[in-house]
Amino acid sequence: MKFASLLTTISLAASAFAVYVTSADGTKIWAEATGDPDKPAVVFIPGFSCSSLAFSKQWSDPYMTSNLYMVRYDVRGQGISDQPLANTSYVSKPFAEDFKAVIDYFDIGGKRPILAGWSMGGVTAADIATYYGTGLIRGVVLLGSFPHRNMHSQVATQWILNFIPRLLDYSLAKFGPTAKEFAESCVAFGDQLDQTTKYSWMGAVAGQNPDVRLWSIPHTQNETALMNARLTLPYLVLHGKLDKHVDGVKLRAYMDKWFGNFVFRLWDNVGHASFWDAPEDANKEIVAFARRLRRGWAILSDSPDGLIFSPDVDGTSDAPPSS
Ligand SMILES: *[C@@H]1O[C@H](CO)[C@@H](O)[C@H](O)[C@H]1NC(C)=O
Ligand SMILES: *[C@@H]1O[C@H](CO)[C@@H](O)[C@H](O)[C@H]1NC(C)=O
Repeated sequence: MKFASLLTTISLAASAFAVYVTSADGTKIWAEATGDPDKPAVVFIPGFSCSSLAFSKQWSDPYMTSNLYMVRYDVRGQGISDQPLANTSYVSKPFAEDFKAVIDYFDIGGKRPILAGWSMGGVTAADIATYYGTGLIRGVVLLGSFPHRNMHSQVATQWILNFIPRLLDYSLAKFGPTAKEFAESCVAFGDQLDQTTKYSWMGAVAGQNPDVRLWSIPHTQNETALMNARLTLPYLVLHGKLDKHVDGVKLRAYMDKWFGNFVFRLWDNVGHASFWDAPEDANKEIVAFARRLRRGWAILSDSPDGLIFSPDVDGTSDAPPSS
C-alpha cells in the first residue's frame, strides 16, 4: 500500500499539467508545468511566433523533470494562447503580466523562478524588471537570445534582418515557403530537422494572425530597470556558433561590456535553438545554474578573477559554496 502510494507520487511528479491562465487584461495564456515542485522552478518562454512545444527535449528529459520544476507557456498571440486583435496588447506591460499570472497560477513566485527565454522570449526579463522588479526572478537563461529588445540590432545577423520583412508579408502565397524556411533556420542543420518538428514549428508561425506578427515585433520596452540590475542579475547564456538569427560573437562582446554576472557558452555545430541542437549540454547547464542559484549565490565561472558572488536579493543567502 505504502509502496503503491509512493509510486503514485512519483508518477504524478513527472506528469505534465496544462491549463489556460487568465492574465491581467483577460487574455488566456496556455501554460504547462512538469517536474518536481520541490525543486528549483524554471519558466521557459518561446521565441517570436513560436510555440512552447519547442521545449520538448527539456520536457521529455528525466534529468530535467527530476531536478527542476519546469513551466512553459505560449506567449500571447502565439501557439494556442489568445491573440487579442489590438496593437496595444503587444507592448511591454502585458508581456510582464502574463509571466506574473503564470507564476502565480503555479504558485512559484515565492521561490523566485529562473526565466529561460528562447530568442525574443529572453527579453521578457526586461518587461518584468520594469513592472515587478528583477527580484521576481532568480536569474535568466538566454537560449539563442539577448537581454532586451532595444539592443537587438547590435546582435542581429544580416540574415534575420533580411528575413523579417518576409515574416511580416501578408501574402498567403508567399507565406508557406517562408514558414518552412523560418522553422529550418532555427536549427544548425535545417535540412535534417525531423518532419514532425518542422511541421509543428511551421504550424505555430502559420496560426498567427499577420497583424499580431506585425504588432509583436516591436515589443516596445524600456530596459532601464533591467540594466540597473545588470551587474548582479545572474545570466546563463547558451548560444550556438551556427545561430542564423543572433550573432554569438557580438552577443559575447555586448555581455562583456555591460553585464557583470554571467556564464557564456558558445557551442560548435549548434544553431539558434541551442536547447534543441544540444539538449544534453543545455539541460546539464540549466540544472547546474539552478542549483548554484538555489544556494543564493551566483558564480561567474568564466571570470578570470575566479568566483564573484552576488547575494540573493531576498536575503536568504548563506555562505558561498566552497568549491
Ligand atoms: C496602435 O495603432 C494606433 C492607430 O494606428 C496608433 O496610433 C498607436 O500608436 C499604435 N500603438 C502601438 C502601441 O503600436
Ligand atoms: C525609461 O525608464 C526610466 C526609468 O523609469 C525613465 O527615466 C526613462 O525616461 C524611460 N525612457 C523612456 C524612453 O521612456
